[in-house]
Amino acid sequence: MKKKILTGLQPTGVITLGNYIGAIKQMVEMQEEYESYLFVADLHAITVPQDPVELKKNRRSLIALYLACGIDPKKNHIFFQSENEYHANISWLLECNTYFGELSRMTQFKDKSQKHQNFTAGLFTYPVLMAADILAYDVDYVPVGIDQKQHVELARDIAERFNKKFGTTFKIPEPLIKENATKIYDLVDPTKKMSKSEENPKGVIRLLDPLDVVRKKIMGATTDSLMSIKYDPENQPGISNLINIYSAMTNKNYSEIEDEFKDSNYGTFKKAVADSVVSTLEVIQKDYNTYLNSSELDDILDSGREFSRKIAKEKFEDMKEKMGFSRK
Ligand code: TYM
Repeated sequence: MKKKILTGLQPTGVITLGNYIGAIKQMVEMQEEYESYLFVADLHAITVPQDPVELKKNRRSLIALYLACGIDPKKNHIFFQSENEYHANISWLLECNTYFGELSRMTQFKDKSQKHQNFTAGLFTYPVLMAADILAYDVDYVPVGIDQKQHVELARDIAERFNKKFGTTFKIPEPLIKENATKIYDLVDPTKKMSKSEENPKGVIRLLDPLDVVRKKIMGATTDSLMSIKYDPENQPGISNLINIYSAMTNKNYSEIEDEFKDSNYGTFKKAVADSVVSTLEVIQKDYNTYLNSSELDDILDSGREFSRKIAKEKFEDMKEKMGFSRK
């Protein structure tokens, strides 16, 4: 039997190169060998305020982007989280087996709650919904960037607790984080994460940015004065970030890259990084427009919804039975 992988992305703003490298690309690389689930985490998006018109547009756009990035609908179950009601149902049962203290320790909650004067209860319980997304399918691995590792670890803790209390119900999942995809940093400030919500667009590459803009952003990336192309995140965060991007785009490892550019200056290296990103995005952008307007999208979503609902329903019924919700 094939092992299972699952991941989801929030349909907020335009997907970045960080999202692509951290999550989508890994799914593309693994789809041949694994039973794969890839969804749009639209229920997670509303933990902070969303304009309904924008949300509607972004949800569909993300599905088209998945396909354009090389996600094969024949090898992945692709669906909207909100079209599978069992995620939220399972989440409630798990919430009642999760401690307030555990959720209070989530670093993403601490960061995000500081940014909003009035934040929702959903922002606080968000990691439990994420646990439900994962645990519903008994997945083996969850490909993510490092910023989601703590949430996957919480899902493991919740699953272990539930299994102990009610009998084995869930498989214990593992986060899957590739070395060069751990965290792609902002090009202007390479000490902070490249993020969808960043206000300065210069440091963030969006998958749908015009290609000349992408090139400009990379050529303008902050580097250092050491004049050496070495993977050394502590002393050369900008260069190391570009090495990670180049490594992800070309599948070359760090020593191959250091060797390739041992006699080059930063300009030459940046141009090579820009070429590699632009040629990847060129294909994605061309296919994106075709998929966005295709009626195939709805067929893919219908079959993803039906398949995922069947599995998640079984898990939900099993949990209810074990927790004492059966009639007899
Ligand atoms: P989200 O939408 O913030 O990010 C989607 C994925 O992209 C990764 N990522 C990055 N990876 C490397 N470098 C970066 N700069 C970078 N920025 C983002 C994230 O780690 C993530 O893998 N809660 C999740 C969505 C979610 C989910 C799930 C994921 C909901 N349920 C179940 C996995 C399994 C989120 O907000 O991701």
